[in-house]
Amino acid sequence: MRRAYFDNFLDRTLMTYSVQSRRNILVAGAAALAGAALAVPRFARADEARMVTPSQGLGPFYPYGPEIERDADLVTVKGGTGVAKGDITLLSGRVLDARGRPVSGVMVEIWQCDAFGRYHHPRDARNAPLDPNFQGYGVVTTGADGAYRFRTIKPVPYPGRTPHIHFRIAGRDIPYLVTQMYIAGFPQNDGDFLLKSILDPKARDSLLVRFEPIAGAPELAARFDITLANNGTLRRG
Ligand SMILES: [Fe+2]
Repeated sequence: MRRAYFDNFLDRTLMTYSVQSRRNILVAGAAALAGAALAVPRFARADEARMVTPSQGLGPFYPYGPEIERDADLVTVKGGTGVAKGDITLLSGRVLDARGRPVSGVMVEIWQCDAFGRYHHPRDARNAPLDPNFQGYGVVTTGADGAYRFRTIKPVPYPGRTPHIHFRIAGRDIPYLVTQMYIAGFPQNDGDFLLKSILDPKARDSLLVRFEPIAGAPELAARFDITLANNGTLRRG
């Protein structure tokens, strides 16, 4: 049942992106026409540079090991007894270049602690329970539209950190990016040493994500678009 909903989420997400990109084309087309009529070219908007997603450190809990499940569903594990604890969240977004063009075929990895604030990593030896149904790690490849999507949980705080999800973007011909996304408006954000280390407020805001209910569904939705710096060799969808 949940799997069916997740699949449906993927379909609906793709549909939304396709509608949005058609809308962007229409807007760009209208702007170009208006510019022509006034003899003032207005091609800049579609080509304007976006805020490049700031990088953050990899941290001590980047997952490794042959036993790691490599899929997009973090809330069930092979041989598990059920679904992970926490607020199940459908996390999606796109990987874009600095001009807003989708970057396809690149690997997006995420990792985060479970609902008890514990990483499934040998280095996390804190005395907290471990949720056996939380995978803690996910990986997907972006589609032609640059989109990625995961089913995971809304992150929770652990000692010394405001809630966050780690991201790593890697692929041929793209700038390597490691970063973290945060919950918009979470009270501990202001005191988080890593979030505060980004001094530009706009860059900091670009890592803040809203977690919102989905009408008629038990999951939350969160959307985080990632913008890579242009290096002139990005493959585009
Ligand atoms: Fe972390």
